[in-house]
Amino acid sequence: MSQTPDLSHLWMPFTANRSFKAAPRLLKAAKGMYYTSLDDRQILDGCAGLWCVNAGHGRSEITEAIIEQTAVMDYAPGFQMGHPIAFEAARTVAGFMPEGMKKIFFTNSGSESVDTALKIALAYHRANGEPARSRLIGRERGYHGVGFGGISVGGISPNRKAFANALLPQIDHLPHTHNLEQNAFSKGQPAWGAHLADELERIIALHDASTIAAVIVEPLAGSTGVLIPPQGYLERLREITRKHGILLIFDEVITGFGRLGASTASEYFGITPDLITMAKGISNAAIPAGAVAVSDHIYDTIINAASGIELFHGYTYSGHPLAAAAIKATLELYKKDRIFENAKSLSGVFEQAAHSLKGEPHIIDIRNLGLVAGIELAPRKDAPGARAAEVFQICYEQGVLLRYTGDTIAISPPLIINEEQIKHIFTVLAGALKKIK
Ligand SMILES: Cc1ncc(COP(=O)(O)O)c(C=O)c1O
Repeated sequence: MSQTPDLSHLWMPFTANRSFKAAPRLLKAAKGMYYTSLDDRQILDGCAGLWCVNAGHGRSEITEAIIEQTAVMDYAPGFQMGHPIAFEAARTVAGFMPEGMKKIFFTNSGSESVDTALKIALAYHRANGEPARSRLIGRERGYHGVGFGGISVGGISPNRKAFANALLPQIDHLPHTHNLEQNAFSKGQPAWGAHLADELERIIALHDASTIAAVIVEPLAGSTGVLIPPQGYLERLREITRKHGILLIFDEVITGFGRLGASTASEYFGITPDLITMAKGISNAAIPAGAVAVSDHIYDTIINAASGIELFHGYTYSGHPLAAAAIKATLELYKKDRIFENAKSLSGVFEQAAHSLKGEPHIIDIRNLGLVAGIELAPRKDAPGARAAEVFQICYEQGVLLRYTGDTIAISPPLIINEEQIKHIFTVLAGALKKIK
């Protein structure tokens, strides 16, 4: 048992600081599928950290690559200077991207990837002779990180409310696709809802295509409470954006690198967007890293339109040598251990285990795809979110770490999970549901 540190100085992100500090949950070590809590309990990781530790914790292949790189060269500038490992990492990432999307811009997080992708979209239209295309379209309930670009196109109201007067201008939103009346307890992609993509035609008619730069969506929305795209919906979005010369950005910060049993959701659904944002699983979260994959056409258009610096954008740590080493080692590990294949082969067991909870108290929906499931609870009268928070706490006390958003519990374990661990997660969850009112 370790001592609780002084908690007073750290301002914790996306956390109720006062209540957390009154009853902290502290993790001190991690290996494979498990965390060790400060009081020396083993906690099964049911959400891959924050949807990011796809190969499980403490993978020596990755940590050793980082340590080796620190000894060789800790840092080198990425502006006007280069270092081989950043180019090698870009080549490795490109190998996981769809055909024709082989240009990679490095960032340090998902939020930076989103803002980078939005800026590249605007730069592309300018370079292509259509500078009036500056409007960006997101979706209600979308989560695209916390930069001003990301919260502007994002559609989670508490994330926007305090900053409402400072959001980007010229933004519009598609409706979200969540509908319990039509789709409750769907296994995999729900049958109803492809027509919601046609709302984009309405938005285009309102603003005119000549003013619209890009549409950004999560192919599968995670942070808002696991929303699975209806059958045919993403295909329609691709069709409409292509018809009107609008770029399509898939925010794959969660779906990238194996979550659905394929390299990307784009590959899984067989739909190629124009830009893909990534982070999280790109480095197995061993070091902060992110990237944007850009179509060769967008890259060529921007690069060929300028003399000098083509894109006035970048981060001190874009392509940081340690991140590049981590990315290379992570992606090699995913291949060597056939980690995406494991996710794919377990997705049926996972689906069955998730849906076996149907009939447990409070559940109004179960939804799933790949190794992601959302269990939605009926909100308690006058206390929305309270039930999910209590379930989360009970599961944690019983040695299973999950996530919750509103009244939806999200399960998204490391992709190295086995059948027994999957069953254990849902058994503990069912027990917790029986305990609450
Ligand atoms: C789809 C999506 N985009 C962007 C982000 C932001 O990533 P980060 O927290 O690394 O900035 C997240 C984080 O959960 C995400 O799920």
